[in-house]
Amino acid sequence: MTIDRTRLKSLMEREQKRFVAEHQKSKSIYDRGKKSLLSGVPMNWMVKWPGAFPPVVREAQGANFFDVDGNRYVDFCLGDTGAMTGHSPFAATKAIEEQVKRGITLMLPSEDCVFVAEELQQRFGLTFWQFALTATDANRFSIRLARHITGRPKILVFNWCYHGTVDETFITLHPDGTSGPRRGNIGPPVDPSVTTRVVEFNDVPSLEKALAHGDVACVLAEPALTNVGIVHPVAGYHQALRELTRKYGTLLIIDETHTICAGPGGYTREANLEPDFLVFGKPIGSGVPGAAYGFTQAVADMISKSENLEDCDTGGIGGTLAGNALSLAAMRATLAKILTKENFDRMIPMAERWATGVEKVIKDFSLPWHVTQLGCRAEYLFGPNHPKNGSEAHNAMDFELERFMHLYAMNRGILLTPFHNMALMSPATAAEDVDYHSKVFREAVRELAS
Ligand SMILES: Cc1ncc(COP(=O)(O)O)c(C=O)c1O
Repeated sequence: MTIDRTRLKSLMEREQKRFVAEHQKSKSIYDRGKKSLLSGVPMNWMVKWPGAFPPVVREAQGANFFDVDGNRYVDFCLGDTGAMTGHSPFAATKAIEEQVKRGITLMLPSEDCVFVAEELQQRFGLTFWQFALTATDANRFSIRLARHITGRPKILVFNWCYHGTVDETFITLHPDGTSGPRRGNIGPPVDPSVTTRVVEFNDVPSLEKALAHGDVACVLAEPALTNVGIVHPVAGYHQALRELTRKYGTLLIIDETHTICAGPGGYTREANLEPDFLVFGKPIGSGVPGAAYGFTQAVADMISKSENLEDCDTGGIGGTLAGNALSLAAMRATLAKILTKENFDRMIPMAERWATGVEKVIKDFSLPWHVTQLGCRAEYLFGPNHPKNGSEAHNAMDFELERFMHLYAMNRGILLTPFHNMALMSPATAAEDVDYHSKVFREAVRELAS
C-alpha cells in the first residue's frame, strides 16, 4: 500500500476540524496564553503537538489524563519517559507529601541521598554517584569531568542522537563525511564540529578512525538510539565500542535516560555493559525533577587527584537546587517501590502486546512499515527495514504522515510522543489500553487505504 498524499491532506483537515471542535476550552486558554507565552506555549517545541494547539491538561493519574474539555486519554507518551512510572504513583506522592512538609531544598545532604546512591550502585554497577536536576545537566557534568580528567577537548556522539540540550551533541553528518550544526539548532555557541566528532551508530571502522585522533575525551552514547525511532546495536557493537574507547584512552558515558525502559538496571545491566559514567534522569523521581550520574572507582580517583577544596563549584558543575531533599525523597520512593523488577515484568509484556497489535495491522495492509521494541517501549517507523543507524532511521521519518497518525490517535483519546511514533508502558498501563490503540491504529490505516 502506498500513501495517497491528497487523501492524507484531506483526512488531516477533517481531523484538525474535529480537534478544534472538541477542544474549545483548551483553545480559549491557549488564545489567552498567546498574549503572555511565546506562541501560546510554555516551551517552544509544544507547538509541535499535531493539533492546532495542545490540549490543556486538567489532571493525570496512572496511565491516563483528562484535558480541560473533559476528554480522557490513554497516555503512551508519559512525558517522553518522565512519567514512565505512571502519573503520580501513590508511593511517590506519599513520600513527596511527607517531604514537602519537612523542607524542600537546603544545600545539605539528607539520608535519602545515600539510600539512592546505594540503590543505583546495585542496579548499574558503578561505584560513585552525584545528582543533578535534569538528564541534560547530568550529561553536561559527566562530559565536563571527562574533559577535565583526560585533558582532551572533544566528545564523540552518534548521528541523530539526542541527549537533552547539550550544545556539543547538536551535530549531524553530511553525506560527504563532513559534519556541521544539526538542522534547527538554535544559536550554537560554536560550530559543533569544533567540539564534537560524529559517526554513525553500529559503524566500527568509522568509530575507530574518529577515536584514533586521540583528542576525544568521551563517547556519549545511548546504548540503543531511542530518539530517532529505536535503533538497536548490532551483535558485537558494544564490545567493539568498549574495546576501542579503552584502546584510545576515551571514557564511555552511557546515557540510560530512555533505555531504562529495558529493565530495572537499564540496558547496561541487560547487556552487561561496563561504562565509565552512567546517566539516568527523567523517571528517576516519578516526574519530580532530578537526575543522577555515576562513575567508576577509577574515574573517582582521577577526579579526587585534581580536586581542590577552594575551587569546588567554580568549574561548571553546579545547580543550587540539585540533590535537594524533595528530589531525593521522590527518587528513593521511585526506586524502592515503582521502578521495580515486578513492575517491569508487567510493563515489558505490555509493550510486546502493543507491538504485536501494530505489526498485525502493518501485515494486513501490506504497509512498508515496521515495529521495534525495547523493553517497555515500542515504536513504529515508516520504512520496511529495521534501521542500523541514525541516518537510516531519520530517512524513514515522514513528518506529514506522523502528524496525521498522532492527531487521529489524539482525537480518539490516545497520546503518543510528539517527535516520533513511540509508545511507552507504565505499571498502570492496562491490556485494554493497548488493545484500544491497536484498534484505533487499524482504523487510521483503513481510512488512509480506502
Ligand atoms: C537519552 C536522553 N538523554 C537526556 C535527555 C535530556 O533529558 P531532560 O530534557 O530531562 O534534561 C533526553 C531527553 O529526551 C534523552 O532522550
